[in-house]
Amino acid sequence: METKILPIDSRSLQLAEKLLSEGKLVAFPTETVYGLGADARNDEAVKLIYATKGRPSDNPLIVHVDKDYDIAQLVTDIPDYAKLLAKAFLPGPLTMVYKSRGVVSPVVSCGLDTLAVRVPSHKGAQQFLKFVGMPVAAPSANLSKHVSPVTAQHVYSDLGGRIELILDGGKCSGGIESTVLDCTGCVPCVLRSGLVTRDMIARVAGECDEYHMVEGERVRSPGMKYKHYSPRCATALYDYAHREEAFKAYKNCLAEGRRAYMLCDSGVAEQFGARYVLELGRSENEIAANLYDKLREGERLADIIIAVAPEKQDGVMVGVMNRLSKACG
Ligand code: TXA
Ligand code: MG
Repeated sequence: METKILPIDSRSLQLAEKLLSEGKLVAFPTETVYGLGADARNDEAVKLIYATKGRPSDNPLIVHVDKDYDIAQLVTDIPDYAKLLAKAFLPGPLTMVYKSRGVVSPVVSCGLDTLAVRVPSHKGAQQFLKFVGMPVAAPSANLSKHVSPVTAQHVYSDLGGRIELILDGGKCSGGIESTVLDCTGCVPCVLRSGLVTRDMIARVAGECDEYHMVEGERVRSPGMKYKHYSPRCATALYDYAHREEAFKAYKNCLAEGRRAYMLCDSGVAEQFGARYVLELGRSENEIAANLYDKLREGERLADIIIAVAPEKQDGVMVGVMNRLSKACG
């Protein structure tokens, strides 16, 4: 199968709509990472997402809708705090889990009675979702377990030949997946951290919990139990306090003839002046935006990526650390 990469315009949107209505898949940009979309109402189309990615069949998907879509069509029991949060953060990188009305395919939520809904802010994503006018089920558009894609080329390198269309909306500005928030309880609860932080949510909703997986208990967000975000090369992760040791390890690897690269923020890069660096940038938003791109660059160039965790560990860095430790830990 030939995979087309097209800019978002009326011609590519018509093709996208045609493909989705035939039960096929379309990759599209969002402000976080690229998504692999299917008509959420079509069982076979949603199953095709799992088959194409090699995704475990018990890891539910997020449904994406445009900003004018009435989500009460899809979900019920929307609490007051969720209305405030939607007003404050949507469209944007916040996915909200509600009780499902059961109007999309049961394959989307893997038989759970809840549904995760996301309203992305990316202009191209909005154009696409508005044009197709249907709820679009979409995970990140990478092969399962690999690093999430933040450019159309990343999608192509994982799924080229397996899907017909990638809508190209440039590099994603956010860089890590949306915050997933459980809105089925009296208090909102973060299931996956992201750019909309727990503090930001608590400021609007009054309070906010955070879910931590407990060994032996049924997981509330099935995605959390799987290995994720892994580059296809050796990796090592050092915390900020041990950055000197990271630099020593890097030099030792080079001395052994291994192609070692340091993955670190600009401050650490400057401190050591290492020659082979995957530099993440300075601000927390830059670091998040560059993380997956640099991990993918690293797996192309390096035998081993030696990562140094950022000094700051709160706010957006909670989400960054969660991905970095799964990728390099
Ligand atoms: O930024 C994003 O969220 C991207 C873009 C494409 O929108 N999508 C994304 O999808 O990251 P995916 O499939 O890679 O991650 C979805 C996460 C998983 O951790 C999954 O377990 C959780 O959302 N999830 C989905 N439905 C759920 C539900 N009903 N209850 C609890 N967790 C759910
Ligand atoms: Mg994913």
